[in-house]
Amino acid sequence: MQRTFIAIKPDAVQRGLIGEIIQRFEKKGFKIVGIKILELNRKTAEKHYEEHVNKPFFENLVSFITSGPVVAITLEGINAVEAARKLIGATNPANADPGTIRADLAHTMERNVIHGSDSLKNAEREIAIFFDESELIPGWKRDLEERFIKL
Ligand code: RTP
Ligand code: MG
Repeated sequence: MQRTFIAIKPDAVQRGLIGEIIQRFEKKGFKIVGIKILELNRKTAEKHYEEHVNKPFFENLVSFITSGPVVAITLEGINAVEAARKLIGATNPANADPGTIRADLAHTMERNVIHGSDSLKNAEREIAIFFDESELIPGWKRDLEERFIKL
């Protein structure tokens, strides 16, 4: 079992896509163990995207991610980091496989609707930026889970 971090970006929140995006992770079988809506300040945005600080797109990225509410989510699941990235699809929606979130719901790199951690190390780092451990409910069980596992 692994934890990963995803964030529904301001473009998706503005377009009314919160439910659609969350549903894809729920249907796949991920468990939401932390969730909140918030607006990032510049400091938090820079910390979250610190690996890109010297890239030419950094300024635009920070100004976009701070432009409106974001939904921050911690997910739990088997091989969660890689599995979530697969559901999300390639950074540029034009190159994302059909059926992925970015292929289906976005069409530009700068407005690609969702963030997902790219490694276990970054997942833990990002979860810690957005959540206090007391705000997470790790390892909760669905009522039907025991029965499902026994089948
Ligand atoms: P994210 O961190 O948001 O989940 O996206 P990602 O891993 O797929 O891509 P990453 O390389 O981490 O880039 C972060 C975000 O920066 C924007 N970007 N623009 N113009 C460009 O060349 C460029 N490259 C990246 C994208 O919005 C990307 O999601
Ligand atoms: Mg990234």
